[in-house]
Order: sequence, then structure tokens, then C-alpha cells
Amino acid sequence: MKPLTLRVAALLLGATLAAPALAQHAKALADCEKKLNYAPTSGQSGKDVVWVPTPDELVTLMLKTAKVTANDYVIDLGAGDGKIAIAAAKQFGAKSLGIEYNPQMVKLAECVVKAQGVEGRTKVVEGDIFKEDFSKADVLTMYLLPELNLCVRHRALSMRPGVRVVAHQFNMGDWEGDEVLDFEGRTAYLWIVPARVGGTWAFKEADNAVAPFTVTLSQNFQKVGGEVAMGKSRQPLMGASLKGEDLRFTFTDDKGLVRSFHGKVSAKGISGQLRTASSADASVTATLQGALKPAPWADMLDRCGRFYGK
Ligand SMILES: C[S@@+](CC[C@H](N)C(=O)[O-])C[C@H]1O[C@@H](n2cnc3c(N)ncnc32)[C@H](O)[C@@H]1O
Repeated sequence: MKPLTLRVAALLLGATLAAPALAQHAKALADCEKKLNYAPTSGQSGKDVVWVPTPDELVTLMLKTAKVTANDYVIDLGAGDGKIAIAAAKQFGAKSLGIEYNPQMVKLAECVVKAQGVEGRTKVVEGDIFKEDFSKADVLTMYLLPELNLCVRHRALSMRPGVRVVAHQFNMGDWEGDEVLDFEGRTAYLWIVPARVGGTWAFKEADNAVAPFTVTLSQNFQKVGGEVAMGKSRQPLMGASLKGEDLRFTFTDDKGLVRSFHGKVSAKGISGQLRTASSADASVTATLQGALKPAPWADMLDRCGRFYGK
């Protein structure tokens, strides 16, 4: 899959909606700095990465790209002054949490949270991203470093399929972004945590109007491919894609008919619709034959042990 690169101008951000909120953040931050007599400087040192804030417009764009809604729980890793967590609550109505190591930044962020009137929905807590549990997030955001991204990657990949991960500036190595944003010379990435599908799946249609078939899927992050066996025919899957739990593929069946599957992967198996150009959709379900294939791409990288006391 080729990542989609979006070139975005600030005008496309729905700036009319975001602009007042952004100005409010700057004012609340300035007021809190005065009140607490603490004014952080961009580039000041932090435990594993310095503090440099993400520009306001990019914060909004990252959250928009992740399609944040009021039903989401957003967690920002290395929260700084809390601006991403606050924007998630203030602009998108989400619940949010910022995890920040520097206690002075936490106090400042908490002051801004109150000043922005989102204390019912947002918290910034003192903690180390390598120790705190962020597994409940629907959306994970970060502006860290390449190595730090790589060392939280396995934890992101163990989260619920469909969780959105957005990072400012740095990628996640060979886990390619589902979208890559280019914003005024800066880059941001969106990943969607893929379901685990590598393995052999037996498909059937309830009324047996479609002959049973077996699909063997290989998986590397969100990239999937494989083969379908139907009767004596063996055919490669075409256009296979996986977005969270949303699976699609096309194949030519044993009668030479092109069939397209679109469905969902869940703990119970796979279910969805099989479509041909000439007949009505057929509902099909699939059960896993044996176990899922090992997924070394989802494992912690050896060199990350140092962040986890290993
Ligand atoms: C580049 S700033 C990003 C701030 C904010 N997320 C943003 O985008 O504006 C990274 C922040 O991570 C914090 N940090 C560094 N190491 C950390 C760790 N191990 N756990 C939690 N926070 C950490 C730093 O203090 C800094 O505030």
C-alpha cells in the first residue's frame, strides 16, 4: 500500500472553528506561566526528549486526521504544556489524558486545563511513558523521537484494532503510515492499528449458495496478501487491504468468477459480504484454522529493553 501524502494549507483546517480555541490556549498558557512563575523554553531538556511544542494548527490537523470524536479517549505521550490533550477535549469534545515526566510542566498543563475549562474531560498526569499504561486509548498522539516511537510501537500494535496513532515529525520504521501529512514543511503520520489476520481461514456461506473456500493470509503490519483455495482452484488474492478490523480482498473463484470480499475481523472470526458483478451479495463467515501465524513485526525490538528496565 502506498501511503497517502496530503498537502494541506492552514485554510483547509476549518480554521474559523479552530482559531479562537488556539488563541485561547496561548492566552491561558501565558496567564498560567505568570501565575506559577514558570515559563518553559522550547528545546529545554526532558527525560528522553526535549520539550518543543507542536504548532497549534498541526495539533488540530493531527486530531482531525485521526477523526477524533466526543466518543474517543485520546492519550498524548509526553504531553508538555498539555496542548494536544486540551485541544482534543476543547475542539473535538473527546476525553483525554496527557502523560508528562516533568512535574513543573504537569503543574503548568493542569493550570491551562482549568483555564480552558476542560478539567472534566482532560487530565495531565506526571508519569513516564515507558511505565504508564496507555492501552485504553482510542487515539494515541506523540511528538517524541524516532527511537522512542519505535520503542512504543509494539505497545501500540498490541492495542485494539482500529486505534489511531498520530505522530508529529517522526515515523515508526517499517510500520508505514496509513496517511502521511505534509504541513508547512513538517510531517505527521497516522497509523491504524491492524487486526491480527495472518493464518488460514475457512469461509462458508450459510445456505451453501457459494462453495466453501479457504483463505491463507500473510501479514506484515497492515499489509496483507495471500491465496484462496476453492475446489481444486488456487488463486492469489488481489487488492487485499486491512484497515484496523476492516478487511478487503478480491479473487477469481473456481468457475472463473471474480468475487470481492469486504468484512470485519473480530475475536469471533471474520464476517462480511461476498460480491460478484452478476449476483446478489452473499453473507459469509470465516473461522480460523489452527492458530494465528507468529507476528514478529509486532514484537518489541531488542534494543528497546533499556526503556523497560530489561
Ligand atoms: C517534543 S515535546 C512534545 C510536547 C507535546 N506533546 C506537543 O506535541 O506539543 C516532548 C515532551 O515529552 C516529555 N518527556 C520526555 N521524556 C518523557 C518520558 N519518558 N515520559 C513522559 N514524558 C516525557 C518532555 O518533557 C516534553 O515535554
